[in-house]
Amino acid sequence: MNNKRWDALWINAQIATMENNAPYGLIKNAALAIMDGKIAWLGAMADLQGEHENLAEQILDVEGRCITPGLIDCHTHLVYAGNRANEFEMRLQGMSYSDIAKSGGGIASTVAATRDATEEKLFQESMKRAHAMVAGGVTTIEIKSGYGLDVKNELKMLRVAHRIGVSLPVTIFSTFLGAHALPPEYQNRADEYISYVCTEMIPAVAHAKLARAVDVFCDEIGFNLLQTERVFSAAKQYGLAVKCHAEQLTNMNGAALAARYDALSVDHLEHLSEEGVRELAHAGTVAVLLPGAFYFLREKKMPPVEWLRTHHVPMAIATDCNPGSSPVTSLLLMLNMACTMLGLTPEEALAGVTRNAAKALGMGATHGTLTVGKVADFVIWDVEQVVELVYYVGWNRCAAVVRGGEVVL
Ligand code: NIG
Ligand code: FE
Repeated sequence: MNNKRWDALWINAQIATMENNAPYGLIKNAALAIMDGKIAWLGAMADLQGEHENLAEQILDVEGRCITPGLIDCHTHLVYAGNRANEFEMRLQGMSYSDIAKSGGGIASTVAATRDATEEKLFQESMKRAHAMVAGGVTTIEIKSGYGLDVKNELKMLRVAHRIGVSLPVTIFSTFLGAHALPPEYQNRADEYISYVCTEMIPAVAHAKLARAVDVFCDEIGFNLLQTERVFSAAKQYGLAVKCHAEQLTNMNGAALAARYDALSVDHLEHLSEEGVRELAHAGTVAVLLPGAFYFLREKKMPPVEWLRTHHVPMAIATDCNPGSSPVTSLLLMLNMACTMLGLTPEEALAGVTRNAAKALGMGATHGTLTVGKVADFVIWDVEQVVELVYYVGWNRCAAVVRGGEVVL
């Protein structure tokens, strides 16, 4: 079969490849071989030719456990300082997320805390959350900036994001979210702030190679459509991909605009219209649903899952880990909530944190499914059936994590 022996051969597994063939692309009594950090072979044990010991340097028996691709959290604001537990209490007493934002709290209060924090402090606080994610089988995390809102502090956040990827066995995809909120020094001058984002911040971020994408919070309490478009256009000039926080609290038609800029993803989408869904389908943009924010803000308006299905828009699921609308570090919990609250099937939910999450980061060619030639990022779960990952309410059944072929947890 091969002249050179594989580096490792994982045997006696149930492998959810998450390739497009339902259910879960499952192969029972399966084995998976690793060579040079990539998946070299994958299939039924019965199709392995020869003695296992002759095939690979190392044989690892998972005794019937399930293997999935490494989970991908494709939308987080994991790097921030402080927390907003006080606002949680205010909301429980009847104030809304928008009211708090309009009265100077919300994102602005995390901006103040993040600007105040030293780079080291920000790193230490953020590492705790990243560590929790990695322990739950996450091998790739997207991290947005957006609590610095000036060149110095946005770069500080993005450096911290980069450093997390060097310090933990996890791949970091960084996104610049300068257009997240209006910083106090630009009060009532949103257009001028957007000019600053486009002419100073994006060039600085691109020059430092600290982000691969640019995101905008397009909303009544964020930025309007024209401002959003200016940011997308600057992002494109610097060769950066586009993402958009769209139709979360109101319908601004941000998703359709983002789709016209070939956005990798549009995220939240509770107020998305069917016309918006059509534009996403046309552009091949991924719809990222964020059950944590939906739950934590006690939203009533459901994202249009049925339209997304009908129009074949790929759906991803993420934590949206942030101090204001989703203080969540468990992507596993999001799997369960995506089904119980948003109506996804367990298979759609799992595809949402693997195959489609990879697509939302433009990483579909190398990550997101267990496929020969792709990077060997996978998780061994102590469950008898794949659906248990979705069924348990946030119970972490992660038994081991393999990243680039190496056992890292
Ligand atoms: O994705 N909607 C805008 N941004 C975040 C919330 C950030 C915050 O409240 O700190 C979100 O929900
Ligand atoms: Fe977000």
